Amino acid sequence: MADWEGKYPINGRLAGKNAIITGAAGGIGLETTILFMREGASVLMTDVSEASLAKAKAKVHELAPNAKGKLDTAHCDVTKEADIERVVNSLDDWGGVDVMFNNAGIMHPADADAIDTPEKIWDLTQAVNVKGVWYGSKHAIISLRRHKKSRGSIINTASMVALVGASTPQLAYTASKGAVLAMTRELAIVHAKESYRFNSLCPAPLNTALLQDWLGDDAAKRHRREIHFPTGRFGEAIEQAQAVLFLASDESSFVNGTDFVVDGGLTKAYVTPQGPRAPAPANLAR
Ligand SMILES: NC(=O)c1ccc[n+]([C@@H]2O[C@H](COP(=O)([O-])OP(=O)(O)OC[C@H]3O[C@@H](n4cnc5c(N)ncnc54)[C@H](O)[C@@H]3O)[C@@H](O)[C@H]2O)c1
Repeated sequence: MADWEGKYPINGRLAGKNAIITGAAGGIGLETTILFMREGASVLMTDVSEASLAKAKAKVHELAPNAKGKLDTAHCDVTKEADIERVVNSLDDWGGVDVMFNNAGIMHPADADAIDTPEKIWDLTQAVNVKGVWYGSKHAIISLRRHKKSRGSIINTASMVALVGASTPQLAYTASKGAVLAMTRELAIVHAKESYRFNSLCPAPLNTALLQDWLGDDAAKRHRREIHFPTGRFGEAIEQAQAVLFLASDESSFVNGTDFVVDGGLTKAYVTPQGPRAPAPANLAR
């Protein structure tokens, strides 16, 4: 057995499936790509940032060296329907899409409260976080039907902030993620008899660039958030990716229309434990 066969086992939970991941160049999208490849899927990584995509692809080759599936990248700005349509259609050569992970999202630093959120930031946030998910869902459905697929899984990244309130406002972001939950629920019911499942992923605040760049080394800002975690720590992207893997696979065949919360218990907590934080798993791409 080659060294990597024990280190990077292939279990085949997604064997034969073709997946598209938006926002695949970093964070949750990159960790998910690596897991999907290790589980036998073929993955088209898409992102608006081509430079980051190239680096991310190299990382996937390094960390899933024995993967049997195809791996490719494509530029895709999810706010442009033509971009989404092009990348979804490009999978026709592979046999059509089976799994669509609409994961790209932004949390803009100028997003604020009802008074101070600039209209252009509101519009941009809805364009990426809501319209992008609509376009991704729409073209996934068209492709699933065209290829006469008997099942499909669409996972849309929402957020815990769509479920609980916070006094640190980011009104456009919160509203956009609430829209993802509602839209995904409706899609799930409309397409249930085609066996096309739609679930929302609701991550808690994570240790990824999206949030951590904004928090920087401001200890007070960090503490204000960490105190609400029963574990005392932010989530890791790999912990979200493991949930996405389950939702993408046929193991979750009866899981549909859920707000799939992966938050270390945060949304169920009132008074959290004192003491040192619980250990976190290591991400694959560090
Ligand atoms: N990080 C958190 O704390 C957190 C918490 C809850 C939900 N989320 C959600 O998880 C998803 C992934 O976030 P992440 O934490 O991995 O962040 P990330 O910033 O590491 O990844 C987001 C990716 O989306 C890409 N992107 C941005 N605009 C795009 C566009 N118009 N078209 C295509 N790609 C675009 C970025 O280039 C980036 O690679 C987002 O939807 C985010 O809102 C994150």
